Amino acid sequence: MFILWDDIMLYTLNRNPLNLTKMKLDQSAMDNFWMPFTGNRDFKQSPRMVIRAKGMYLYDDKGGEILDGSSGLFCSPLGHCRDEITEAVSAQMAELDYVAPFQTAHPLGFKFAKRLADMLPSGINHVFFTNSGSEAVDTAMKIAYAYHYARGEGQRTRFASRERAYHGVNMGGVSLSGMIKNRQAFGPGIPGVVHMRHTWQSENRFTRGQAETGGVELANDLERIALNYGPDTIAACFVEPIAGSTGCLVPPKGYLERLREICDQYGILLVFDEVITGFGRTGKAFAADSFGVIPDIMTLAKALTNAAQPMGAVAVSDKVHDAIFNAAPDKAIELFHGYTYSAHPAACAAGLAVMDVFEKENLFERANELSEYFLDGMFSLSDLPLVTDIRGYGLLAGFDLEPGVAPGVRGLEVQKKLFHAGLNLKMTGDSGLLAPPFIAEESHIDQIVERLRDVIKAI
Ligand SMILES: Cc1ncc(COP(=O)(O)O)c(C=O)c1O
Repeated sequence: MFILWDDIMLYTLNRNPLNLTKMKLDQSAMDNFWMPFTGNRDFKQSPRMVIRAKGMYLYDDKGGEILDGSSGLFCSPLGHCRDEITEAVSAQMAELDYVAPFQTAHPLGFKFAKRLADMLPSGINHVFFTNSGSEAVDTAMKIAYAYHYARGEGQRTRFASRERAYHGVNMGGVSLSGMIKNRQAFGPGIPGVVHMRHTWQSENRFTRGQAETGGVELANDLERIALNYGPDTIAACFVEPIAGSTGCLVPPKGYLERLREICDQYGILLVFDEVITGFGRTGKAFAADSFGVIPDIMTLAKALTNAAQPMGAVAVSDKVHDAIFNAAPDKAIELFHGYTYSAHPAACAAGLAVMDVFEKENLFERANELSEYFLDGMFSLSDLPLVTDIRGYGLLAGFDLEPGVAPGVRGLEVQKKLFHAGLNLKMTGDSGLLAPPFIAEESHIDQIVERLRDVIKAI
C-alpha cells in the first residue's frame, strides 16, 4: 500500500516544474488559503495533502496510496490523470486557449453540445454551458423564470424543492437546498422557495434500490404546495433524482413519476439536478433514463469533464428552448445570461475526450454490471452496530453512522481514519458516500468494503 518517499520526490521533480511538493508547508504558510467546506484550523493542524493521482489512487505527501472510493467528489468516473484528457486539453491550450463566448465562438462548444444532445434523453437538445454545478442550478432557475416570462406567465416566480436537497452554493441553489448549515449564516435566500419533504423514511432503512412504499404520498407534497400557493405561481420543481450529498436518498417507487404528473397538470417545469447522477452513475447515461422519467431541464457538471477541467451545463428541452427563442425579436439576444468562461475551449476539449472514453470503454454498461457487486459489498456492512442505515443505487451508496458527541464529529473522525487507512470517501455529517470510478475492478470494491469495516469496527 505504501510507496517510497524518494519515488514521489523523483516523480515530482520530473513531472512538476513548480516542484510544489518540496515547498515545506508549515502552519503559517497555510494561513492564506481559506479552504472550502473544511474546518480550516483543524485541517491545518494535521493536513491530508494529496500530491498526485493516477487511475484509482491518490498519493499523499507521506508516501500513502489512497483508494479513491468516491471518485473525488463523485466527479472522476474514468479514474485520475487519464492520458486521453491530458492530451486533448494540452493540444487545445496550444491551439486556442480562449475566445470570448459572447458574440464569438469556437467549434468545440458546438461539437460538445451536439455530442451531449445525442446522449441526453430524447427531446432535450439544447445545452447552456457554465463552470460548475452551482452555476448550472442558478442558470436553470433563470431559464425557468425566462420560459414563463416569454409565455406571458411572469407571475410564476416560486420554486418547489426538497428538504435534504443539495443544489450547490450560489444564492439560488442555496435557497433551493435543504441543508441547514448551508443556509443558516447566509440571510433569507431568494424569496418564494417552498420545500417538500425529503424521501428518507425510517421504516425503509437498509433498502437496496427503491423502496416500495411512500413514493406517491411524498410526491403529493408538490400538489399541496401548488394548491396552497396557487399552481400558476410556481415556475419549477427542482429535485435531485437521487439526493446525493445528503447521503444517497433513493426515491421510493412512483415518486418521480408522480412529480412528473403533477408538473404536467399544473404547468410547472420539472428540473432534475443530475450533477451527481449524470453520466452513468445510475447504470444508464442519466438517472432520467434509469427511472424512466424525463424532466424539462437537467443540470450537469462533475463527470461532464471527469473533473479535469471545471465545467457545468444546463440541458434544456425543445419546449423550453423554443418558447424563449420564439419570444425574442429577430437578431436580439434571447437570454441575457452567460459567463466569461462559458464553453471554455479547454473544458470542451476535456469533455469531448471524456465522452470518447465513455463510449470506447462502454463504461455506463460497466458501471451497471459492477453495481450488484458493489451494493452486495456495501450492504454486507449492515451488521456493524454503529451503522444505522445503508442505501444504494447503481454505483452510488450511502451509510449513516450513529452520531457521536455532536452531529458530524464521528463522521469526520471516520473520514480521517479512513484516509490514513488508504480510503478516500465523501462524508456529510455522519453520512458516508461511496461512488467508485467506473474503471474499478471487483478487487477495488473488496478493498473499499474491507477498509470501511475495519475502521468503523475500531471506533
Ligand atoms: C446535485 C448537486 N447540484 C449542484 C452541485 C454543485 O456543484 P459544484 O460544486 O460544481 O458547484 C452539487 C455538488 O456536489 C450537487 O451534488
